[in-house]
Amino acid sequence: MTLTTVLLLTIFAIFIAVVFLYSVYSLYAIISGAPFVPTKKARLKKMIKMANLKPTDKVVDLGSGEGRITIEAAKYCAKSIGVEINPSLYWISKIKARGRKNIKFKNESLWKTDLSDFDLVFIYFIPHRMEKLAKKIKKEMKPGSRIISHAFAFPDWQYLQKDDNIYLYEI
Ligand SMILES: C[S@@+](CC[C@H](N)C(=O)[O-])C[C@H]1O[C@@H](n2cnc3c(N)ncnc32)[C@H](O)[C@@H]1O
Repeated sequence: MTLTTVLLLTIFAIFIAVVFLYSVYSLYAIISGAPFVPTKKARLKKMIKMANLKPTDKVVDLGSGEGRITIEAAKYCAKSIGVEINPSLYWISKIKARGRKNIKFKNESLWKTDLSDFDLVFIYFIPHRMEKLAKKIKKEMKPGSRIISHAFAFPDWQYLQKDDNIYLYEI
């Protein structure tokens, strides 16, 4: 076997390992939450506008994908956190946000994230998990906290504002 063949086989093996890991974690994400579907840029702008972020706000995107909401929100608030279960997406986010001081990404399940420190939550999730998420938010977040939900409403909550399919709530 030549050195070139060994090199090509190594690159191929790494590629297969990355694809395999990404697939396993994508499946895990679907089971424990939602699949990865990034928010389109126009919608992202609407979400940020609706959030009306203050320089003192601490915000979290639960299921942050490749980090686009966390990175955009960080321009307008004190601290922006992204929580993502898929390690590949977590690492892409970290690379995209390198050098920025008020951004942090956590590679963990959002069901384990303590929400008590945040003023606002961004979420783009899945309908059958919204009730469970509503309970977590009510239990952990302080009164007056805001939630921006892309695409899916909370079953029993009255929204303050709706634009397109983006919902703003205050608890
Ligand atoms: C619909 S995507 C939204 C991505 C990003 N927030 C956006 O709007 O561009 C949902 C994300 O949640 C992640 N996810 C699913 N279940 C999760 C869990 N239990 N904890 C953390 N992240 C999760 C998925 O991997 C995926 O990246």
